[in-house]
Amino acid sequence: MTDFWSISRATPTSSGLDLHLALGSPRPGRGLEDALRDAVTTGRLAPGTRLPSSRALAADLGVARGTVAAVYAQLAAEGWLDSRVGAGTWVAHPTGVAPAAPPPTRPAPDLLDLRAGIPDASAFPRAAWAASARRAVVDAPAAHLGYGDPLGDESLRRALAAYLARVRGVRAEPGAVVVTQGFGELLALVCRTLAARGARRVAVERFGHAAHREIVAAAGLDVVPVPVDGEGLDVAALAALSGIDAVLVTSAHQFPTGVALGPGRRRELVAWARRTGALVVEDDYDGEFRYDRRAVGALQALAPDRVVYAGTASKALAPGVGLAWGAVPPALVPDLAHHRRLSGVRPDRLGQLTLARFLDDHGYDRTVRSRRAVYRARRRRLQEVVDQRLPGCRLVGMDAGLHTLLALPDGVAERAVASAAAARGLRLLGLAELDATPGDPAAHDGPQHVVVGFGAPPGHRYEAALDALVAAVTDAVSPVPGAPAPRRRR
Ligand SMILES: Cc1ncc(COP(=O)(O)O)c(C=O)c1O
Repeated sequence: MTDFWSISRATPTSSGLDLHLALGSPRPGRGLEDALRDAVTTGRLAPGTRLPSSRALAADLGVARGTVAAVYAQLAAEGWLDSRVGAGTWVAHPTGVAPAAPPPTRPAPDLLDLRAGIPDASAFPRAAWAASARRAVVDAPAAHLGYGDPLGDESLRRALAAYLARVRGVRAEPGAVVVTQGFGELLALVCRTLAARGARRVAVERFGHAAHREIVAAAGLDVVPVPVDGEGLDVAALAALSGIDAVLVTSAHQFPTGVALGPGRRRELVAWARRTGALVVEDDYDGEFRYDRRAVGALQALAPDRVVYAGTASKALAPGVGLAWGAVPPALVPDLAHHRRLSGVRPDRLGQLTLARFLDDHGYDRTVRSRRAVYRARRRRLQEVVDQRLPGCRLVGMDAGLHTLLALPDGVAERAVASAAAARGLRLLGLAELDATPGDPAAHDGPQHVVVGFGAPPGHRYEAALDALVAAVTDAVSPVPGAPAPRRRR
């Protein structure tokens, strides 16, 4: 016969605390005493945890209230618990003194940050987002809180299809829109799908994120860098390669060199994809941020059957939102759904419902417009500072996005600038850190460059970040006497 008290019970008490107590003795008081002592000793009940009232715990356990009160009193007398009449009962701190609160954790020291492509998260539209989140949760039918389609919440896919058509000229039905956890997941899904279909080689722009190249390689594909020049990806060089199954391209605003793919090259790239049957992955990571009013529509519109269009909420909102999207050739949708299922990934649906609401209410448009004005002003200010305080330097790349290249005076090494910046508490990348073939000087004669991201600092730190940049370049141009000479990397 099962001993009644040997049954473990999770007891949701009226204090809200869910206590899992294994009462292993036939005597209720003894069993409870042992169970509580065991929970404190093993750390399952941490010091400071408030216990349920004796009345609530007695009701949950089905024992007399006096039994629980006697156990609490006994354990308090032994120093396991603290109790104050009328206030309650807690698990005691071992010394009887509550430890000082731990210092707040910081993800990183409070450095100035001019790394490329990072938005000012302090400007996240908290109130508008919270309002959309509230409405999304209150209004969602229960079915919208279920598993849903593996490629994303239907209402978000509809909202994105409409938004992308209106703002970037993308041509896609909602069913061909895929919601992912950041661009990296979309890239991984596309690469796994291609690899499963027998693809071998994926071309990438010579300059770009190493993380993206690693994602391609992790799918078992060869990564083939292609030169980039003043008109973006060198499409003739791409076409001269054989056996390329796909190319990853930042056509609207090359990352990080900042140029747009020339109109002729856009046409050549699409013609190449049609001719060879290859896929183009168009990474439109900052397509909303063009300041000269010459926004060029998505390449995808020229060939929706050959181009995967990719966008992200990371720039206009914040990376913490963790959502990106793709408009994919309809023929790829079933395979992508298959690989999404295999991956076990399911983007948070409440976040998707919130973004759908935010798009439908035009909160996204309003945020983009206001951020665009801020980033445009920051870019202008950077230009002024370079013109006035950095003789011999110049900004290159078009007026767009959240970053630009700073060409250094002849003979000044980007590495020297980056290390001078680090010494001054400024995070800054040299172009070589984003180069897939850093040892190859061919495409990169002339001045060296640092990539200046003007998005990251909160507004009140921007001038300090620019001052640190000026100081770092000045340090590298005229090194402190006695300091070791900087070595050129290339
Ligand atoms: C070139 C480029 N592509 C894509 C992304 C978007 O990535 P995610 O959606 O993972 O933030 C970024 C973000 O930094 C980027 O710089």
